[in-house]
Amino acid sequence: MDTARRFYVTTPIYYVNDEPHIGHTYTTIVADALARYHRLIGDEVYFLTGTDEHGQKMQRAAEQRRISPQQLADQVVENYQRLWPALGISYDDFIRTTEARHRRGVYALFEKIRRETPDALYKGTYRGLYCTGCEAFFAPGQVTDGVCPEQGHPVEEVEEESWFFRLSAFGDRLLELYDTRPEFVLPVTRRNEVRGFVAEGLKDLSISRSRSQVSWGLPFPGDEQHVVYVWFDALTNYISALGYGQDGAAPLYARYWGEAAGQLHLIGKDILRFHAVYWPAFLMAAREPVPTSVFAHGWWLRDEAKMSKTRGNVVKPWPLLEDFGADALRWFLLREISLGLDGSYSDEALIERTNADLSNNIGNLFSRVLALVARHEAGTVPAAEPLVDEELGEAIEQARDRYRSGFDRHDPGSALRALTEWADAVNRYLVRKEPWRREGREQSCARVLRTACEQLAQLALRLHPAMPQGASRLWSSLGLGEDPAAEARPGQDLLDARRWPVAGSSVRAGERVFPRLDKKKLLGEAAATGSDEPTAGGAAETETEETGMIDIDTFQQIDLRTAKVVACEPHPDATKLLRLEVDLGTEKRQLVAGIATAYTPEQLVGRTIVVVANLKPAKLRGLLSEGMLLAASGPDGRPLLLSVDGDLPPGSKVS
Ligand code: MSP
Repeated sequence: MDTARRFYVTTPIYYVNDEPHIGHTYTTIVADALARYHRLIGDEVYFLTGTDEHGQKMQRAAEQRRISPQQLADQVVENYQRLWPALGISYDDFIRTTEARHRRGVYALFEKIRRETPDALYKGTYRGLYCTGCEAFFAPGQVTDGVCPEQGHPVEEVEEESWFFRLSAFGDRLLELYDTRPEFVLPVTRRNEVRGFVAEGLKDLSISRSRSQVSWGLPFPGDEQHVVYVWFDALTNYISALGYGQDGAAPLYARYWGEAAGQLHLIGKDILRFHAVYWPAFLMAAREPVPTSVFAHGWWLRDEAKMSKTRGNVVKPWPLLEDFGADALRWFLLREISLGLDGSYSDEALIERTNADLSNNIGNLFSRVLALVARHEAGTVPAAEPLVDEELGEAIEQARDRYRSGFDRHDPGSALRALTEWADAVNRYLVRKEPWRREGREQSCARVLRTACEQLAQLALRLHPAMPQGASRLWSSLGLGEDPAAEARPGQDLLDARRWPVAGSSVRAGERVFPRLDKKKLLGEAAATGSDEPTAGGAAETETEETGMIDIDTFQQIDLRTAKVVACEPHPDATKLLRLEVDLGTEKRQLVAGIATAYTPEQLVGRTIVVVANLKPAKLRGLLSEGMLLAASGPDGRPLLLSVDGDLPPGSKVS
């Protein structure tokens, strides 16, 4: 019996007049994360992307380069087809609108419209303004200063014979669609916007361009003097890729369009009207089902400003991939904003976000647990019965739910936040259970480590939609194989499993899966090699030198921890020094400190102090000091120790 749900997710098809930028990258990464999540929960998934290759914009870009539009398309499409695998994009199909299968789909849709709603198409004269940048028509009242209201591109006056689609006849049906199917336009604010636009009354839509003006397009069916308007052509990709219009049966169309599946068109907010008004109207006229949802996401700005070629501030994905890697780029774009809102891209923000979440939080947790398993359990996850205490149990349940509901609402940002909270909860659990204090409690330490490893497996599995490469590395460091999604099957929800058979697997410790991104090196180098645009990083470094101020990232390089003094004695060779033994949670360390004038050893044993845990060891009068305790000079010049409030366990991070 076929019980799997079906999920069809699409990106917009991208214009190939220019190379991909961060906006294209974003939509495609979000679509990929959703596709991978749905595969994990056992849905049958079909993920489509592709390129939009016809139209005036393409024609002009090719003319400028003195090549044919087809040559331009062939060159630029390669850039996309190389980029997506480098970013780990798992699409099932890539459609180009210059392919014969697409042309057949467009013609089939026209034919169906003519058959089902004969008066939907008529010939008239179009008088108005055309924006080649948006490939859109505007009424004179919408345009001020000769630029389009959407993006500020220049518009031109057009007066030509044209084919029209009777959009005005579809207003009521569209309003009914928005009202009866609130999930059709997401997020809700966008639905209100679209509803308002339609409620004001729709004008008929010109759906052809005169061949004398635009030659690069599909000949209009039955009228060779015209070419099909590029948006009618482009929108049809969502069904032509499923075989709509091909001879014989179209099994993919039957499987993934209409009620047999849920469809999600992911788009940017600038192209919402085309998807939420025109597209359903075309489908209604053809009596074909409309998709389940159109989700309009926000825009990425560059350092708070809109990106544009003229400003020269367009962020390109290739240099980012080289500098930061696919994991960091994907994580940042997915995690930084809630889908639907605008985000501001900066290299600093990417580095800070990924260092905080991946390197410091999730990566550190893995290193910590795997090091303990390596040291105390000979590198094999113990088979002892897991030991989930109430606090951990509650935190896990909450994080599980938030992760799932985030993805189910198409909001990877909140789903991923749940994972860092999950990792925090496991870190707190370790601090509570102290699996490094082993004397006489080996069995309970083994249970704690087994529990922690199970949580690591749960985390690695759930990281897969966001970072397939990083998740695979985590999975294999747990000794579980190469790919956390290897077991994904339609009808089987991998996220349901509460336990993973981790017991007995051989872990690989000592490897940093998410190395810290070195801001200074990366941003400094980027400026030195003269990359596209100067980064703010260079300026920040100079500022540090000039003002003596450091940024938060520099501060965070200092690993401050609480430590409990477990033993103390005078230094054998120096009257002002004491030798302390401190418990740092994960290990014991020896410190040598110049505090003998203020404290006796007896006053210190049992106290919790603050130490710099990542200071290079140094010898003080022949004794190695593996860290430094924090103290301030009191009024009489004697050093007074910093102490902590409450009952903080050793090893707690001070920040
Ligand atoms: N070809 C049309 C889409 C046809 S779909 C049937 C098109 N192509 S595009 O290449 O110009 O843009 C594709 C997508 O990139 C759009 O969803 C657009 O919103 C998105 N972005 C372009 N710049 C963007 C940002 N700065 N930030 C986020 N996304 C942005 O439109």
